[in-house]
Amino acid sequence: MSEPRKILVTSALPYANGSIHLGHMLEYIQTDMWVRFQKHRGNQCTYVCADDAHGSAIMLRAEKEGITPEQLIANVQAEHSADFAEFLVDFDNFHSTHAEENRELSSQIYLKLRDAGHIATRSITQYFDPEKKMFLADRFIKGTCPKCGTEDQYGDNCEKCGATYAPTDLKDPKSAISGATPVLKDSQHFFFKLPDFQQMLQEWTRSGTLQDAVANKLAEWLDVGLQQWDISRDAPYFGFEIPDEPGKYFYVWLDAPIGYMASFKNLCARRPDLDFDAFWAKDSTTELYHFIGKDIVNFHALFWPAMLEGAGYRKPTAINVHGYLTVNGQKMSKSRGTFIKARTYLDHLSPEYLRYYYASKLGRGVDDLDLNLEDFVQKVNSDLVGKVVNIASRCAGFIHKGNAGVLVAVDAAPELTEAFLAAAPSIAEAYEARDFSRAMREIMGLADRANAWIADKAPWSLNKQEGKQDEVQAICATGVNLFRQLVIFLKPVLPLLAADAEAFLNVAPLTWNDHTTLLADHQLNEFKPLMTRIDPVKVQAMTDASKEDLVASQTDTGTAAPQGNGELAKDPLSAEIEFDAFAAVDLRVALILKAEAVEGADKLLRLTLDIGDEQRNVFSGIKSAYPDPAKLEGRLTMMIANLKPRKMRFGISEGMVMAAGPGGEEIYLLSPDSGAKPGQRIK
Ligand code: 2FM
Ligand code: ZN
Repeated sequence: MSEPRKILVTSALPYANGSIHLGHMLEYIQTDMWVRFQKHRGNQCTYVCADDAHGSAIMLRAEKEGITPEQLIANVQAEHSADFAEFLVDFDNFHSTHAEENRELSSQIYLKLRDAGHIATRSITQYFDPEKKMFLADRFIKGTCPKCGTEDQYGDNCEKCGATYAPTDLKDPKSAISGATPVLKDSQHFFFKLPDFQQMLQEWTRSGTLQDAVANKLAEWLDVGLQQWDISRDAPYFGFEIPDEPGKYFYVWLDAPIGYMASFKNLCARRPDLDFDAFWAKDSTTELYHFIGKDIVNFHALFWPAMLEGAGYRKPTAINVHGYLTVNGQKMSKSRGTFIKARTYLDHLSPEYLRYYYASKLGRGVDDLDLNLEDFVQKVNSDLVGKVVNIASRCAGFIHKGNAGVLVAVDAAPELTEAFLAAAPSIAEAYEARDFSRAMREIMGLADRANAWIADKAPWSLNKQEGKQDEVQAICATGVNLFRQLVIFLKPVLPLLAADAEAFLNVAPLTWNDHTTLLADHQLNEFKPLMTRIDPVKVQAMTDASKEDLVASQTDTGTAAPQGNGELAKDPLSAEIEFDAFAAVDLRVALILKAEAVEGADKLLRLTLDIGDEQRNVFSGIKSAYPDPAKLEGRLTMMIANLKPRKMRFGISEGMVMAAGPGGEEIYLLSPDSGAKPGQRIK
C-alpha cells in the first residue's frame, strides 16, 4: 500500500453580502465530491473555505441595514453555513477572512513582499464622493455613456452599447452612494510588482498546473506583459489596515486568497494531526488545489502564485477551473425564476438530486454547464430511482420474506461481479481527473447491466414456482451485492443515499476498497425506500418561489445593491468577450426560402436559408411566434453562419437565425433594412 496522500483543497470564498445560489453550488458540489472521493480512498484530504468578508460593498450594505459589518458578516456566515451543510458540502473548516489569523498572515506576507522590494507606491487620481468622503470604485459611479448617451450607466461599461471606458469619461457622473457629483482627488496607492514574477509565471502556468484552455487564456496576458497590481484602498474601507500605513487598507482581493491559509491555520489549532508549515513551506510535499470559476482565474493563477513565491511559500499544485451555470440554456434570470437560491431549492427538493445532476454533467473542462430543469427531472428519476435504487427494492423483499433478511453466500452472476470489479479503476481515474460525467456514465452502465440481469432472471416469477426458493435467494443476494458496489462507487456524490444504504445493508460506513469484497451469510436490516422520484410540480414550485424571492428582495432593499465587492462586481454570467471573439462571428443576411413545422417537435421550425453562395438548413425554436411558418418565406433575416453544425433529433442544424424577445408569442425575428442582399456580411 502506498502512503496516503496529504491534500489541502479549497473552493472560492463566497462574498459575505449575498445568498448562495445554484451557480455557486456548482463549485462547492464539484469540490465536495472530489474531496469526498479522496477521503473515501483513504487519503488525508482537508477541505477549507471561508466567507470573503471585506470590501466597500459589505461596508455599505451593513450601513444600509443599520448594523455593523461584523454583524452583517456573522448573519451571512450563519446563512451560508446552513446552506452548505444541507447541500452536504462537508468543509473541514468554514472561516472568515475577517479573522485574526488572516490579519496576521496578510500583514506578514505583505511585509515579506515589501522587504524583498516587490511593493511600489505612487499617487493615483480617482473620483471621490465629497459628501460620503470616500473614493469611489467604478461600480459606485453612474452617469451617461460617452458613446451612446444612455443615462444611468456604471463607471466602467455601458450595459446598453457595451462600451468600456474610464469613469472620468462618463458624462454627468454621480456617486451611486450619495448622488453627489464626484470630484477628482489624488491619493497614494501601493502596488504589488507582478512583473517581477513574469518569468516564474510563464513557466508555472505551463507546468501542468492549469487546464490547457486556462493556460492559453493566461498566455494572452503574459504575452503583453504583466502590470503592477494596485493592492491598497483608502479609508473608509472594511478590511485590514496596511502595516505602517495608517488610513490605507488592503484591497479585498489581496487578503481573500490568504483567507485559504488563514482558514487552514484556524483548523490546525484544533487538529493536532495537521501541521500548517508542512502544508505551506516552500518545499512541501503535500498537495494544494484551488477550485474556482473561470471569472477569477487571474487572481488565482497569476497574482496568488506570485504572492506566495515572493513571500517564500509553496505554490498550488493545480488550479481547477470550471465554467458557469446556465439554467434552461440561458443565463440565470430572476424574472424567469431561474435565479434559484440554495435555500429556495432546499425548500422544495433534496440536495442529492442536484448533486447527481451536476456530477452527470461535469467534465474536467471549463465549459459552461446547463441545468435543464426538464432533463434534471428525467435524468434523476431514470438513473437514481429507476436504475440504482430499483435494484435494491426489487431484491430486498424476497430476502426478508423468504430468508428472514439473511443474504445467502452465493454469487449467481460471477461474470457481472467480475465486470463491476474490473470497472473500478476506470471509475476511480475519472473521479481523480474530475471527470465526474464519465464516472457517472460508467456507473450507470453497470446499473443497466445489473437491472437487465435481474429482469432476465425474474425472481418475481420464480418465486411463484415450487422449489425455486434457493434460486430466488441466490439472485436477490447477488442483486443486493451489485447494488452495494454501485453505492460504493456513488458515495462521493450521494452521501445520504450511501448512509441509508449502509443502514439497510447493516454495514459500517463503506470505503472505496470495500468494492473488492462481497456480503455473504449476512443479516440485512429492514428496507426503506431510499429515494423518491422528483415530482415536476416541486420544480415548478421552486421556480415560482424564485420569482417571489425577487419581489421580496426588491421590497426589502429598494434597488438591488451591487453583489460582490463592488469593485470587481461584474455579473459572473455575463463575462465580457474580447473583440476577436466577436469578430470571429460570421453574421450574414439570409433569405428564408422555406419555413416549415417539424413533425414531433413542439417548438421548432425548419428553415431553408439562402446565404448567397449556399443554402443552409437551420432549426430554430421560434414556432410559438410563427404558427403559420409559410408567411416567413421570402423574408430576409440575419444568421450566424459559422456556428458549428449541431446534430439534432430531426437533422443537422447549420447555423442560427437571430431573434429577440422573452419567448412564447413574443419572439421577433430580426431583419435588415430593405435593400440588403442574401449573403452580405453584417459588420
Ligand atoms: O469572486 C468571488 O466571489 C470572490 N469572493 C472569491 C474569492 S476567492 C479567494 F481568493 F478568496
Ligand atoms: Zn453606451
